[in-house]
Amino acid sequence: MDRRQALRRGGAIALLGILSAFASTARRSVASGNAPVIEVLAQRFRFTPSEIALRSGQPAVLAITSLDFVHGFKVPELGIRADLIPGTVTRVTIKALAPGRYDFLCDNFCGGGHEEMNGTIVVSD
Ligand code: CUA
Repeated sequence: MDRRQALRRGGAIALLGILSAFASTARRSVASGNAPVIEVLAQRFRFTPSEIALRSGQPAVLAITSLDFVHGFKVPELGIRADLIPGTVTRVTIKALAPGRYDFLCDNFCGGGHEEMNGTIVVSD
């Protein structure tokens, strides 16, 4: 093999390397793109929907928008909490969960109905 052939072969191997790196990146982004995005609204004194249905083992992203106040979003059992700044979308990633019910609540005092501002993530088999 002369020098030119060697260079060509090296180039082909490098190109294959780049292509396979690209393919594995694409797979990863498809995998994370599998997580459905669920829109949630927060306003005095409720979350809509207040019941969020997920399947066991299925991660999801909650895209939460507050309409009127810096409500809180807390899922005590999952160690998740966030402040919901009006005018911004707060994205909360829910990892794959075992079947069950996971309560969430507003944990920023927002007025007379604060204690009733809550909901549940219901994870089915
Ligand atoms: Cu909303 Cu407390």
